[in-house]
Amino acid sequence: MALNLDSIGKKIGPLSSDYTWKDAVLYALGVGAGFSDLEYCYEKDLKVIPSFATTTLYNFMPELMVASNVNLAGILHGEEELIFHNPIPPEGTMTTEGKITDYFDKGEGKGALVVAESETRHSNGKRLFTARATVFARLDGGFGGKNAPKREIVFPDRTPDFSVDASPSADQPLIYRLSGDVFQLHVDPEFAKMAGFEKPIMHGLCTHGFACRALIQSLIPGEPEKARRMFNRFTKPLYPGMPLKTLIWKTGEGKAVWRVVNTETGEIVINNGEFEYGDIPRDEIRFDEKVAIVTGAGAGLGRVYALELAKRGAKVVINDLGGARDGSGGSSKSPADKVVDEIKDMGGRAVANYDNVASPEGGENIVKSALDAFGTVDILINNAGILRDKSFIKMTPENWNAVLAVHLNGAYNVSRPAFKVMREKGYGRIVMTTSAAGLYGNFGQTNYTSAKLALVGFMNTLKLEGKKYNIKVNTIAPVAASRLTEDVLPPDFLEKLKPEFVAPMTLFLCSEECPVTGNIYNAGMGFYNRAAIVTGPGTVIGDGSKIPEVEDIESHMNKISSLKKGREYFQLNDQLGDVMAAFAAPAGEASDTDGTTASVAAVFEAMPDAFNADAAGGVDVVFQYNISGEGGGDWYCEIKNGACTVTAGSTDSPACTLKMAAGDFLAMMNGTLPAMQAYTSGKLTIAGDIMKSQLIEKLFKF
Ligand code: NAI
Repeated sequence: MALNLDSIGKKIGPLSSDYTWKDAVLYALGVGAGFSDLEYCYEKDLKVIPSFATTTLYNFMPELMVASNVNLAGILHGEEELIFHNPIPPEGTMTTEGKITDYFDKGEGKGALVVAESETRHSNGKRLFTARATVFARLDGGFGGKNAPKREIVFPDRTPDFSVDASPSADQPLIYRLSGDVFQLHVDPEFAKMAGFEKPIMHGLCTHGFACRALIQSLIPGEPEKARRMFNRFTKPLYPGMPLKTLIWKTGEGKAVWRVVNTETGEIVINNGEFEYGDIPRDEIRFDEKVAIVTGAGAGLGRVYALELAKRGAKVVINDLGGARDGSGGSSKSPADKVVDEIKDMGGRAVANYDNVASPEGGENIVKSALDAFGTVDILINNAGILRDKSFIKMTPENWNAVLAVHLNGAYNVSRPAFKVMREKGYGRIVMTTSAAGLYGNFGQTNYTSAKLALVGFMNTLKLEGKKYNIKVNTIAPVAASRLTEDVLPPDFLEKLKPEFVAPMTLFLCSEECPVTGNIYNAGMGFYNRAAIVTGPGTVIGDGSKIPEVEDIESHMNKISSLKKGREYFQLNDQLGDVMAAFAAPAGEASDTDGTTASVAAVFEAMPDAFNADAAGGVDVVFQYNISGEGGGDWYCEIKNGACTVTAGSTDSPACTLKMAAGDFLAMMNGTLPAMQAYTSGKLTIAGDIMKSQLIEKLFKF
């Protein structure tokens, strides 16, 4: 039995469970609530303990076990993280959807970790919480995977600010299990003995619920809705009836660390606890546990992106080589280090990297910094930049190449290794940095504008390659006061151009919530809009058989240049489809009296006669057609030894299968719907060998 490593990124759920106020109260009683915190136990003005979120795990975990193929005999709940987005209402339906995000290998005989993430929404439409669970799989180590990154939680060297005593009753698991975890280990004395315990043990998540109550009582009394995040590691089993205490140290504004100790033995039963709390805008966009790389983050825009990402929970790699504005001179570690210190001072997580984005090794090292420190990469902002402005004749190859090397090659060098990680995990956000100068032109910047618009081309293709892996690639065109613009713009204007105005747009493009890919946004001073490459409808000169004269272009120039009713294309094929369509007669012009074929069956009947044996040139191939709608049906067409046979029905192993509605099929066969357009518009779908399907137009002349 081995872990199913292919299950990473595959969807688990949606799993729904209905609950009423009685379930919320039963949970509260299970984790020790009573008259002392009646708001959790009385249906009048009932508040739900945030850790009630863990009850959704009882649906999610069994699915996780099946998906991961973990050896059930060796599993323990390792770590639990809850990020609260909205308070849990007293009743309704919770729907959870998630996936396995990582497998870590501690080594042969030492076990493995299975990490899963899920998000739960309420039937009122609100996002309630994100849960991240780590299962310690004691018997699954040694599969050759990477080890988990170290997570260090520093406890202050002083007595705790709060110590909350609790006395779970000797019967506590009997109440707690009614909230969903009915595993025998917590109820059946015989089973517990078989598993090596004196008697049934407490549920780790029950002790967790005691701790959650203690944290709220100490830090946000009476306001459980202010809980933002709770993290912990389960370290030791606890017998029911043992007294426990939750020790809490405040570490910063809205932050605390905590652990739970068995009061009698002094053993730590839950460790590495972190708790965040405070007034938060609900439905806040967060980056908790996301790992971001920001290049050129030692100053200007990059620094602000990094600070804002960290404030919202991201772990950030601060890349900056600390050179001069034109990229010349020695490098310095201090800009990157300073930003790392700023982030750490506010309780965030960041590491510095001083590599040069302009070299492939630099790019690899930057991504390696993220992997070494935080285990993955979710977000990349290609931001590093320099300027070497000169009017064109004075633009030396050195100045040209230096600017392209940082902006264009830099983005390539870092994106490539980052994209590899993102593709494997099925998630990623990449932001390119262009410039209004690149989009619209600016005197004296041929090098910079070329590099900046090239990044749009880079995005255009990377968005297509990333699409099926949930990697979204967008581009920001910022305007902000920084050393790049300090001598270009007047001082009072610079005042209004705080980089902070750009950051919200860039952060949104980095977020899970970002719905778009392949877009360009201008952002600055509080003004935001989208820029795009728009293509006019154009015109056909002639019928496509005679080559027009230069003078024909002159006389059609207005139509050719017009952008009225212009379109934006997502990819090359869409534009090709429109070019083909421009040659097609309007659909209404086709009729069965002008020599075209009127029924689907007639097309297949005519197919052997329309077959062009010369074009077949030794090709043996079988096409399956599934035509839906009135007059449709299934036919397959075999081309073998220069002959064509058509048979009604289906065959087992066609080279490709073409599916279309009857009307579209007739339009295509009669020449009013170009095949390419049918394909790009989704009217024709092709499964199997798409290249073979391209033979069809050559093989048949109707
Ligand atoms: P900035 O000069 O304040 O920051 C750029 C940072 O990139 C610097 O800290 C620098 O040390 C670093 N860097 C330069 N070359 C590097 C390399 N090879 N490897 C690693 N780090 C390197 O500039 P600002 O204004 O914050 O610019 C950020 C990005 O925004 C740049 O790509 C720039 O072209 C772009 N941009 C800025 C505009 C603005 O109005 N500030 C306008 C349009 C685009």
